[in-house]
Amino acid sequence: MLDPVILYFGSFNPIHQGHLSVARAAQQYYGGKAEVWFVLSAQNPFKQKADLWPDEKRWKLLLEAIANKPGMKACDVELNLPTPSYTIKTLNYLRQQNESREFVVLIGEDNLAGYTQWKDYKSILQMCKIMVYPRKEENRAENENSKEDQNIYDKNKAKIPSDLAAYTDRIILLEGDLLAQSSTAVREVNIGSDPKDWAQILQWRGSRAEALRQESQKIKEKNVGKNVYLRGLIEYSNYCAKNCYYCGIRRDNSDVKRYIVSEEEVLNAMAFAHKEGFGSVVLQGGEIKDKDFVLKIEKLLKQAMTMSGGQLGITLSFGEQDKDTLKRWREAGARRYLLRVETSNEALYKRLHPSDHSFKDRIKTLDYLKETDYQVGSGVMIGLPWQSPLDMANDLYFFKQREIDMVGMGPYIEHRFTPLYEQRKNIPSLEERYEYSLNMLALLRLLMPTINIASTTAMASLNPKGREEALRIAANVIMPNITPYKYRENYFLYENKLCICESEQDSKEHIEETIRNAQCEVAYFKSGDSKHYFNRLDPKNEDPIL
Ligand code: 5AD
Ligand code: SF4
Repeated sequence: MLDPVILYFGSFNPIHQGHLSVARAAQQYYGGKAEVWFVLSAQNPFKQKADLWPDEKRWKLLLEAIANKPGMKACDVELNLPTPSYTIKTLNYLRQQNESREFVVLIGEDNLAGYTQWKDYKSILQMCKIMVYPRKEENRAENENSKEDQNIYDKNKAKIPSDLAAYTDRIILLEGDLLAQSSTAVREVNIGSDPKDWAQILQWRGSRAEALRQESQKIKEKNVGKNVYLRGLIEYSNYCAKNCYYCGIRRDNSDVKRYIVSEEEVLNAMAFAHKEGFGSVVLQGGEIKDKDFVLKIEKLLKQAMTMSGGQLGITLSFGEQDKDTLKRWREAGARRYLLRVETSNEALYKRLHPSDHSFKDRIKTLDYLKETDYQVGSGVMIGLPWQSPLDMANDLYFFKQREIDMVGMGPYIEHRFTPLYEQRKNIPSLEERYEYSLNMLALLRLLMPTINIASTTAMASLNPKGREEALRIAANVIMPNITPYKYRENYFLYENKLCICESEQDSKEHIEETIRNAQCEVAYFKSGDSKHYFNRLDPKNEDPIL
């Protein structure tokens, strides 16, 4: 006679190693050959749960996870039957479709506790046996309150509740700490130390990508916790002496209305950020080098220090400046500086910039930043024309080798009025750039566990959940835009940039919701310096090994 089919009901959000070990134990109970059908429960359309992924995503990961696993199948009946899905209905349907088969329903010990509330539970028990796997060990101790219980209690075996005492012969109890690995993703993640391996990892998609991202989330929480630091972003000016081929505010784009935010407006924005508990602000703008500009920034820094009693963390981002200027600004109160290298491949850098732009000068400026004691931030664009996965992997190697303290990186997004727009057919699709970006963030977190990583606006421009996903898996910094509204439409680095029309995206409520949805916490009134920076200064604090 055929072994029964074991129906394993669950939301598998996402499927993990614990589920697979439960399924294996169920198969073993029948000598290893029984079939297990993973019955994916549908998202109840009337009760959308924020933490439940869409049906298609859970289904896809489930299929990939059990591919090539003997006897394991995925079953989508509940996605197609009307909701709410009652087990009795699903069971009747499956029995009709498979008249010759006997079914066993596999559920967790937690579900067994409320089993008598299930619709037609007695009929279910008449039709088929119920197989139960024990609850996860760490969740049970507090529930075992009677002393007597503790003594007779076998920690790896489920208990049958008293209201089901009459059915003990219909209930099969599986044994073992089966869910021990329940947060471990289905695939093992071994990142190695060779950029060539990383280039492969960056191309992972589906369940392998999810495994990578779950691993990175774990390492992030272990090393920098769940805090997300806020940096109020002030786009100070869109004047720029540079002419980068990809950038919307490049010098030669005459469509741009140029502006400089007034001193008073900057101070107001900073005061707002300080009052609202943003630990820091970022003053960002195009590259201007004249004396007047240098002095203006210096003055603003000093005013900000006075206004906040030295509390407000200030990050600058004004391109390549000479060492004296950087030193001056550092002494006036700036403590961090962002200078993206854009790509670590010098040949590619050359193709993205006019001949008077120099990769070596860029690197030299990064050295100056270290020498003048800044927390050094850098970054790259992901999905550029001519950029290979190995180039991206080498970008990560670059950050690691140069001991960068903070990274802001995101997808390249084409801009109609730039020379690089010509190459728009020669880049990965938006979806692919999004996937690459998430893998880059995850892999970077695994390689550099204590750095600060920003969840960038460009991520949100590719996918409405982009910033949230970046925070969930790797990032711990977000930069809400606090530039006065009247200037925002003039700071178009790329098209579809979240801007004036979507300014509520950066409202306090929206940012808080993004952070909450990412299962993180808002760190108000904290400056959130890079832990990596302090470890770098004091070699006693070695960066933790994974
Ligand atoms: N797509 C994505 N990012 C861009 N930047 C400039 N142009 C683009 C674009 N088209 C980024 C660069 C720069 C930062 C200020 O904005 O990385 O360093
Ligand atoms: Fe200027 Fe930066 Fe744009 Fe290049 S990327 S043109 S340096 S603002």
